[in-house]
Amino acid sequence: MSKTAILEIDGKKYEFPIFKGSENEEAIDIKKLRDLTGLVTLDPGYKNSGSCTSEITFLDGELGILRYRGYAIEDLAENANFLEVSYLLIFGKKPTAAELEKFENDIRKYTLVNEEMKSILDGFPKSAHPMGILAALTSALTSFNPKSVDVENEKDLYCAVCKTMGKFLVIATWTFRKNMGYPMNYYDNTKGYVENFMRLMFEIPTEPYKVSQTVIDALDKLFILHADHEQNCSTSTVRMVGSSHAGLFASISAGVSALWGPLHGGANQAVLEMLEEIHNNGGDTEKYLAKAKDKADPFRLMGFGHRVYKNFDPRAKIIKKAANEVLATLGVEDPILDIARKLEAAALEDEYFKARNLYPNVDFYSGIIYRALGIPTDMFTVMFAIGRLPGWIAQWKEMRENKEPIGRPRQIYTGSPLREFK
Ligand code: SDX
Repeated sequence: MSKTAILEIDGKKYEFPIFKGSENEEAIDIKKLRDLTGLVTLDPGYKNSGSCTSEITFLDGELGILRYRGYAIEDLAENANFLEVSYLLIFGKKPTAAELEKFENDIRKYTLVNEEMKSILDGFPKSAHPMGILAALTSALTSFNPKSVDVENEKDLYCAVCKTMGKFLVIATWTFRKNMGYPMNYYDNTKGYVENFMRLMFEIPTEPYKVSQTVIDALDKLFILHADHEQNCSTSTVRMVGSSHAGLFASISAGVSALWGPLHGGANQAVLEMLEEIHNNGGDTEKYLAKAKDKADPFRLMGFGHRVYKNFDPRAKIIKKAANEVLATLGVEDPILDIARKLEAAALEDEYFKARNLYPNVDFYSGIIYRALGIPTDMFTVMFAIGRLPGWIAQWKEMRENKEPIGRPRQIYTGSPLREFK
């Protein structure tokens, strides 16, 4: 006998089934709530509302658990590579060596971006933020690939996945090249996906360019750690936009815009700017902790806190360790890392943060590694987007394959009653 929830309204009782997931999470199934009671629920920010069931990512905020398709993030970060994890998230299973090689080669078929896209890029001022350019160029990909994805056709969907993985990486680096006044680079189909990212970003025609394996491995791990995170703001946006049957590029473009916000993916840039400000102000971490606790002060400790994790973000632990290793291997002495460690230690001891279960999240240390790799601060959220791309694709694909209805939340009106317009 499955569990139910009883709701009593004006003396009348209503019974709703309780849905249990594969990790024993439970939800009250309110699909029939309005039909039975005439009422809707109210939940700003959806802090208590599940939008869907999903087989892609499981996270437990209390225990600090994160798994992609059942594999622990610690296991994947240690033993997998980014394209392997991308395949796992999108197609639901670990690729065989042959499948992974085919996937990488099929992505290579689409790494040439239409030259006319450059005229769109030329339209932006040099000062344009890379995330704004990326959202626009991603949406523009629809114009150059107008055939909409037939989600019923496995081959068509597979090609759309490879096309998105291939082209997004290239246009993401174009935002930096434009900013620097460099010529646009092209993907080198003889090299790996992550190595290509560094080449696309930094190789200039006048100099030979070599990428160290340390850098490739660090980036590969960072992309894995960012690859998916169930129904976060940007992923929910991708699902919402896709639910109207808008195309994959248009849905991903919307996800890029949602990720840009400083409360979400934009936090990694905001963390570095915050740490630099503290460093430039003499490293007074106590002053900034006090600002973060002061309700009258809009300042928040960027890179701290999380909607779901009320324990350490498991990704933050891995990234913190990687930051120490990468900087040591590269021989980079960065005072910002010392500021971050000092700030983290102080916050973890502080009653305000402890009482609110505020711990470092994925964004707190990632920027320190990006900086050590020479990636400019305003490109940090683009790095997040490159990592999150397979997760967005996987979630969009699942939503369409499950034939989910168009997303359309209800509301409670609190505005003016009927009045005549003279
Ligand atoms: C990401 O959802 C995901 O999965 C996202 C993500 C992913 O992989 O997709 O994990 C990526 O976005 C990570 C989060 C990056 N953002 C930041 O680091 C920005 C700083 N953090 C906060 O803005 C905040 O913690 C959020 C936005 C992340 C979560 O906010 P919630 O869940 O809406 O919590 P809240 O704002 O209601 O805060 C609860 C309390 C409040 O105090 P009280 O009103 O109870 O007194 O905690 C306080 C907040 O003021 N608080 C903070 C704080 N975060 C929360 N106070 C100071 N500094 C902070 N960082």
